[in-house]
Parts: sequence; C-alpha cells; structure tokens
Amino acid sequence: KDPRIDGIKTKIRVVPDFPKKGIMFQDITTLLLDPKAFKDTIDLFVERYRDMNISVVAGIEARGFIFGSPIALAIGAKFVPLRKPKKLPGQIIFEEYELEYGSDRLEMHVEAVDSGDRALVVDDLIATGGTLCAAMNLLKRVGAEVIECACVIELPELKGRERLEGKPLYVLVEYR
Ligand code: PRP
Ligand code: MG
Repeated sequence: KDPRIDGIKTKIRVVPDFPKKGIMFQDITTLLLDPKAFKDTIDLFVERYRDMNISVVAGIEARGFIFGSPIALAIGAKFVPLRKPKKLPGQIIFEEYELEYGSDRLEMHVEAVDSGDRALVVDDLIATGGTLCAAMNLLKRVGAEVIECACVIELPELKGRERLEGKPLYVLVEYR
C-alpha cells in the first residue's frame, strides 16, 4: 500500500448523523485544507491513469469536480462535467438514480463526448453506487468506453461496487 494513503485518510473528517441520523458523513473539505494531502490524492490518481490513454475525465457534480478536473489537466484529457438538473445550456441526455438520501438526476452535454472516447469517471465517494452507475450509463449511451471509475472513498458495506457490473473501480480509502 502506498505510504501516502494513511496521510490522506487521516485528513477526511467523519461526521456522524449528517445530513441525517444514521449517516456517517465523509467530509473531504478537511482533506482540501491540507495542500500536501490534497496533492498526494491527485498524484496517486495521475500516476495510475497517465499512461492509460484516457481521453475524457467525467467528473460528477459537485465533489467529483474537485478531484476530476486536476486529474484531467495532469493526464492531458478533456474534462466533462456531469451535472445536476437544469445547469447545462446545450443538448443533453440524462439518467436518474437513487441516493443514500433522496433521488437525483445527472445530465451531460451530448456533444462533449465522442464515440470512441476512453473515459475515466471521477467522484469523491461511492456509497450505493447509484451515482456512478448513472454516470457510466451517460457515457455508454454516446458510445464512449468507460475504462474505470475512481473515487477517493468507498463505503464497502453499502456494496456499491457490486452495482458496477464488473467495471473496475479504484479507490484510495475504504471506510468500514
Ligand atoms: C454524494 C457523493 C457521491 C454520491 C455517492 O454526492 O459525493 O457523488 O453521493 O452516493 P451513491 O454511491 O449512493 O450514489 P451528493 O449527491 O450527496 O452531493 P454533492 O453534490 O455534494 O457531491
Ligand atoms: Mg457527489
């Protein structure tokens, strides 16, 4: 295991009962306050993906933007935001999904991704996996190949990985 992982893990604040009772909220804002730990996080992803011919990084609003865009810049891929409803002005497609708390929808500009693009999907955290599934479906619908999903944190008890239908998922930190 990479020695930088422990430093990253200690910077993630766990907040019980937020935003509602029973949820152990994984707060990455404390990781962002530590430039070394934030840089280590981005570097670990960049080291993994720089030679995998990724042509598009799809970041999931909102916290996936924070990690996805620096990764895209560093590996020389375009960045495509997958957004919450009614934020994108161009022609869109959408996917609905269930959340740990509530339901939501992700939208993507259809012209942003080409068939044949090699996609990396980035988010801060996988819980039930519904968000990543919706993101992957958007990319598949326009003919892109999803190479992998990458998250900082996984909550293995929620079995989100099983919903990804064999698509590789790479995470830095597991919270049990
Ligand atoms: C959180 C988290 C992931 C998603 C994971 O986002 O950032 O995107 O939930 O849940 P799942 O695996 O069960 O789908 P959220 O929509 O709460 O808000 P955000 O805009 O702060 O990222
Ligand atoms: Mg999110």
